[in-house]
Amino acid sequence: MSIIVTQQLTKAYGHRRGVDEVDLCVSAGEIFGFLGPNGAGKSTTIRLLLGFLKASSGTATVLGQDCWARSATIKQDIGYVAGDVRLYPWLTARKAFQIAGEIRGRDVLADGMLLAERFRLEPDLPVRKMSRGNRQKVALVLALAHRPKLVVLDEPTSGLDPLMQDTLADCLRELAAAGHTVFFSSHTLSEVESLCDRVAIVREGRIVVDESLDVLKSRAPRTAIVTMKSSTIVADVAVPDIVTVQSRSGNELHLQLTGSAVDLTQWAASQPIVDLSIGKPNLEFLFRQYYNHDSDRPVQEPATSGCTDAATDPNNDGRFPTSEAS
Ligand SMILES: Nc1ncnc2c1ncn2[C@@H]1O[C@H](COP(=O)(O)OP(=O)(O)OP(=O)(O)O)[C@@H](O)[C@H]1O
Ligand SMILES: [Mg+2]
Repeated sequence: MSIIVTQQLTKAYGHRRGVDEVDLCVSAGEIFGFLGPNGAGKSTTIRLLLGFLKASSGTATVLGQDCWARSATIKQDIGYVAGDVRLYPWLTARKAFQIAGEIRGRDVLADGMLLAERFRLEPDLPVRKMSRGNRQKVALVLALAHRPKLVVLDEPTSGLDPLMQDTLADCLRELAAAGHTVFFSSHTLSEVESLCDRVAIVREGRIVVDESLDVLKSRAPRTAIVTMKSSTIVADVAVPDIVTVQSRSGNELHLQLTGSAVDLTQWAASQPIVDLSIGKPNLEFLFRQYYNHDSDRPVQEPATSGCTDAATDPNNDGRFPTSEAS
């Protein structure tokens, strides 16, 4: 079941480019990471999905409904945290859950307080007395307390310490395991690597890659060290075209592997080797190439979205505040 579908989604701010012909498809239960440099169009895409912005052209649906025309309805099943969290100074976590419960017509206090405890929030401290990270946590627990079908988070770990980042990751994994969908933007590669099933990278308003993390890992370069029986063999050995030689140093051949590790292992087995070590995929190297404006970034077929089925029309219940600062 497709939870988010955008087709040729375009937003221009007057003459300024927001996003350009963005195709995305996010399935139920996925944790989807949305990456890109500053100004690439992440927040614009997210604001289009929430119905805070009207598209210049193209379509966007969430939970099978048009993001602009049915904005109020789809917000009922979304938990959202904006990139720049703004909360009323008098608000406390407890009051926030009470208000959210009244708006949604169901009690979210009990679940909210459990989340507040996990995030080590003082439930009765007003926002004006909170540190930035704690304000971020209030926004997060408020977005998660009603266990929405879709969680949309714009740079959610900004301001969170590493332990709280782990807590958030645990919460998101639990939601996804229960069939909920998570869409989040990020600049932090490690959280994307540890959390996401699928990643899209937006650059200058366009999607430049949209792949499962497993595929990206298989495409990312790795370093490999082949230890041979003598330095003479190392100096003379011809290497297959799935590697480039970084250095030939004594008995060691240092390689950058761009092809399959299995192929390298097979080649190495036919050589007079003593040892072979292959490093982890260097995703950071790959992502930096996608971020780059240079023409040497990885050659990529047109980005394909991950959906295989048609968007469905779910039965929504509950309600959600329309303010971004909620
Ligand atoms: N209200 C606006 N009016 C005019 N241009 C805007 C507006 N909001 C965003 N833009 C432009 O749209 C482009 C995409 O901005 P957006 O905020 O979506 O980027 P982003 O990927 O979220 O970046 P960041 O990582 O810095 O948060 C930028 O060029 C930005 O200047
Ligand atoms: Mg942004």
